[in-house]
Order: sequence, then structure tokens, then C-alpha cells
Amino acid sequence: MRKPNLDAYWMPFTANRQFKKAPRLFVKSEGMYFTTDEGRQVLDGIAGLWCVNAGHARPKIVKAIQEQAAELDYSPPFQMAHPKAFELADRVAQLLPEGLNKVFFTNSGSESVDTALKMALAYHRVRGEGQRTRLIGRERGYHGVNFGGISVGGMVANRKMFGAMLAGVDHIRHTHDPARNAFTVGQPAHGAEFADDLLNLCALHDPSTIAAVIVEPVAGSTGVLIPPAGYLQKLRQICDQHGILLIFDEVITGFGRTGNPFGAQTFGVTPDLMVMAKGITNGCVPMGAVAVKGSIHDAFMTGPEHLIEFFHGYTYSSHPLACAAGLATLDTYEEEGLLTRAQQIGGYFAEAVHSLKGEPNVIDIRNIGLVGGIELAPIAGSPGKRAFDIFLDCYDKGVLIRTTGDTIALSPPLIIEREHIDRIVDTVRDAIRRHA
Ligand SMILES: Cc1ncc(COP(=O)(O)O)c(C=O)c1O
Repeated sequence: MRKPNLDAYWMPFTANRQFKKAPRLFVKSEGMYFTTDEGRQVLDGIAGLWCVNAGHARPKIVKAIQEQAAELDYSPPFQMAHPKAFELADRVAQLLPEGLNKVFFTNSGSESVDTALKMALAYHRVRGEGQRTRLIGRERGYHGVNFGGISVGGMVANRKMFGAMLAGVDHIRHTHDPARNAFTVGQPAHGAEFADDLLNLCALHDPSTIAAVIVEPVAGSTGVLIPPAGYLQKLRQICDQHGILLIFDEVITGFGRTGNPFGAQTFGVTPDLMVMAKGITNGCVPMGAVAVKGSIHDAFMTGPEHLIEFFHGYTYSSHPLACAAGLATLDTYEEEGLLTRAQQIGGYFAEAVHSLKGEPNVIDIRNIGLVGGIELAPIAGSPGKRAFDIFLDCYDKGVLIRTTGDTIALSPPLIIEREHIDRIVDTVRDAIRRHA
């Protein structure tokens, strides 16, 4: 296969110089596997990037995209629409927890996050509470890379280069507490009290200045942090008490990752706004969405009917290709029971991942549904190096994993079978040993 010139492309979230010395190129994908440009099969342990939940190149989705491109390639989303946008919003609403029934489309998780933050601010303003301008995020949170998202986000490397960001943002503490919770299977028992940080911020700023709190039900990109039992419930309670909107960023927990359509259902807590992306189209066409409670949407529906109610949207909101892919994706999830499949295979996955306890440098293992985090002790003076070397080693052995800092994060397609789980975990185990 002809090698491309690697010079011009500045790759995102990539060690560019290392990559260009030893490129890793995929040219094909199907089911649980990628094929490299050298013709090697690589088992996908991370659903692409937490998005290909139904596995790769699913025929129904491929066909829907091909047919849509030939039939209606583009339709303006402002003051115009096409039927599949309404159909997809309706299908997504049917999967959502009760009360969340309006859906706004974007093109990515980052756009969805910024959309949700703007909705929260504007909602308070249209109700005459425009003094609620503060946004609260959480340490180690990841909410994409746009200015709103990095402002409420809490991953230092994603923030420190980019100036002052949004004003009026504060953070509660993260919930990672290995001293009490290391090697917990499922939800940790300790840490619900971390939610009380929100009460401290209410006392500091006065709750009447706070618009919204945004958290990931399971923090993924920072290294898989599972919410302690009772923690999300407590956040919900404090928000209710003080008129603060609760936003769940379900970009990775959405569409079956934790054993239910959304993390909100797994953890039994309904937010006021929900951010999603990735699995909505099985990763095939970029798309994101924000779901809101009917009461939030309705608060905007005032004033003369010829006026735009919410001055926000993207050229590619509800793109026909994305909507077609989304509908075929939801069909595939439904036909194959994928949105609850993690409940069946999650036990086997948990056992396999936790079998890495006792391997060299493994200092914690965390899991929920089909998500696993394996935290390694860093090499002194070289944080992230051990995990990165293990990532490269696994790739050489034909398994794609993802690492963040010194944590290995696994999030395979929901079609995974036991033999794939065994292969992923055995490959990780061997690599951990080789890099001890
Ligand atoms: C929780 C969360 N929010 C937002 C995003 C950003 O999504 P995107 O990369 O589609 O902008 C991600 C991406 O991984 C994510 O995990």
C-alpha cells in the first residue's frame, strides 16, 4: 500500500513526533477488528474511541449512510428541516430517562457540552434569574476541548495552555480515593460526601449565583472513575434544594456502555440536561446531542412566534447523513439488545479485568458495565511513560487499548464475546509484565 506523506497533518491529542517515526495506520474495519496498512488484524479494545458501540462496518448503518448521501446530501437546519431529524430526536427521547424529552443536535461531544452550558445560562435568564451565571465543574472532569468545556473541565494539561477561559467557573473535588476504594468491583462504597463540596460552593458564592453543575456520571478520559454509591444522588439533592441545574455529560456513558441506554438509568439519577455524542451514530458520522427536560425547553417558548427562541446552532446540526446513521444505529442496538448487553457480559469482563490485580505496578482496578480502568504506578520522573509503552506493546501484539496518564482504559464494542475479553486482558497482562 502506498505510504502517505505524513508531514502536513498535525494530529490531535497525539505524540506527533513519535507517531511519525513509527506510524500506526488503519485502513479497514469490521466487527471487533481493524486492519492495518500492513494487513495486520488489531482487536479493538476501546470501540474506536468509546464510540463504535455496535462494532465496525455494521451493514445496516453503512447502507443507510450510502443511501442518504445519494438521496438528500444536505438540508439547512435553520428555519428548515428534514424528516429524519425529527425521527431521530423522537427515537433518542424514547431511550432517555422520563422527563428528558427534547433533543438538540450538534456534531460532537465538545459542541454538545458548550450547547448545554449555554442552554443552562439562557434558561435562567429567560426565567428572570439572569444572576445565575456561575458554572461548576469537577476536578479531573473531561468535557471536550472547546472553551466552555475546558473551563468546567478539570484535566490540567487540557487547560493550562489556554489562558483564563470562562469567568465565574468553580470546581468540586474529584472522587478518586484509592486509599479507601482501591480494587473495588463496580461502584465504590466510599465518597458520597465529596458531593458536599457543592454545598461549600453554595456557601461561598451564594446558590442564587449558580446556574449549573456538570459532571460525567463515570469520568472516562481522566482514567475511569466510577461514582461512589450515593454520590450522584447527593448532587441531585443539592441541586434541587438550590435551584441549580444538573448536567450529565454522557458522551461516553451513553448508548449502553454501563448496561443501560444511559448512565442516568444505571445510577438511578436523572439530570436536567444530558450531553451525548459518540455512540449516537456508532461513531460513523460525527454527531452530538443535548437532551433537556420539557420544562427547560418550554421556558424558551415565549414571545412572538416568528422570533427565534434560542440563538444557537451549527451548520451541520442534524446533518442528514448523521441522522440516517443514527436511526440505523439505534435499530442495530435494539435488534441485538446491545444497550443492555453490558449487564450480561459485564460480570465476565469485570472478573477478567480484576484478574490483573497482583501484576507488577498495578495499583488500582476500576470497572462498571463494559468499562475498565487499570491504574499503574508511574515510572519515577516519567509520568505516563509506562502506560504509553504498554499501549505500543499491545498494538504490536494486535490489541488496541487506550491510556491516559498511567491508567489503561478499556471500553470495547458492546458486541464483544468472552474470547475477545480473554485476548485483550491476556495481552495487557503480558505487556504489563514486560514493562515491569
Ligand atoms: C465525557 C466527554 N465529554 C466530551 C467529550 C468530547 O467529545 P468530542 O471529542 O466528540 O468533542 C468526550 C470525548 O471523549 C468525553 O469523553
